[in-house]
Amino acid sequence: MKTIAFFNNKGGVGKTSLVYHLAWMFRELEHNVLAMDLDPQSNLTSAFLDEPELELLWPQGEHPETILGTIDPLIQSMGDIKPLKAKQIAERLYLVPGDLGLSLFEDRLSEAWSKCLDDNPANAGDGFRVMTAFHRVVRAAGEAQHADIALIDVGPNVGAMNRAALVAADYVVIPLGADLFSLQGLRNLGPTLRSWRGGWNKRKDGKVPSNLAMPGGGMKPIGYVLLNPSVRSNRPVKAYRKWADKIPAVYAEEVLGCAPPPGSVEADPSQLAMVKHFKSLMPMAQDARKPMFLLKPADGAIGGHAAAVQACYEQFKGLAQRILDETV
Ligand SMILES: Nc1ncnc2c1ncn2[C@@H]1O[C@H](COP(=O)(O)OP(=O)(O)O)[C@@H](O)[C@H]1O
Ligand SMILES: [Mg+2]
Repeated sequence: MKTIAFFNNKGGVGKTSLVYHLAWMFRELEHNVLAMDLDPQSNLTSAFLDEPELELLWPQGEHPETILGTIDPLIQSMGDIKPLKAKQIAERLYLVPGDLGLSLFEDRLSEAWSKCLDDNPANAGDGFRVMTAFHRVVRAAGEAQHADIALIDVGPNVGAMNRAALVAADYVVIPLGADLFSLQGLRNLGPTLRSWRGGWNKRKDGKVPSNLAMPGGGMKPIGYVLLNPSVRSNRPVKAYRKWADKIPAVYAEEVLGCAPPPGSVEADPSQLAMVKHFKSLMPMAQDARKPMFLLKPADGAIGGHAAAVQACYEQFKGLAQRILDETV
């Protein structure tokens, strides 16, 4: 199973929408897909499930069916992860549901990072159990559903939670907008990924408890996805152009640690897709609880919308195939 995290410390760049749509698209392409919501804001979970389902998932009291339920013993320091059955969304599509209470795990994750280096094997063991929790959950849930691809959505920060989420990821896709904030975020991401990867490499040869499934912590950046601004024609707005033109160099220098490629963002080999802002389809899709590219006339996708649905399908299909090519 390939595990891919979608990561940027800038919010609102389309991470969750991307994971949601790609999960459906990989399913369209006959893959067995597991989506995992590791953002305590749980937007991915709310995209997949309707309100009655969410109420059942998040009752008052314990949440045995969410990511919080499975890692709760670790938060309480009362044992290890509990088995979790991923929630079926459709044939070949499963979700490890998110939970607002997941933020309670942040302190334990932060402490665990240093504990992994502890000379005392009991302390190190606790550190490793906590640090590998996400990896073990995604692996077990993926194996149970025969998933061959797992997509992880995370919140917009560079905290301990995301460090553990990224340790569980073989690959990283960076969703971006063409704006000042996104570019600043991109500048932080490269050094952050390097430090997390190096830190995990240093730890993973330490006092690891026997029989603990250890993630490789590769978190290899395979490229970025640029969310285009909403434009009426195909003519890019001036501000967009200004920031978009800077992305290839910043990505190469900060994330890949290599010389900037020649040419524009359109020609940048690290650019996986420039996803259109499907302004009219998104609200329709949210109402219909479907990905934009599966909207039907009955959902309101008539006339010009039907053509947009087709364009959207092709765009996400191309992106999904590109991701498959980059993760062999
Ligand atoms: N391709 C798209 N077309 C139209 N709207 C989009 C698209 N991608 C994201 N959005 C909208 O942009 C906003 C931010 O997206 P979201 O996926 O929640 O970003 P993030 O997870 O990075 O915070 C949401 O309102 C979402 O509906
Ligand atoms: Mg999000």
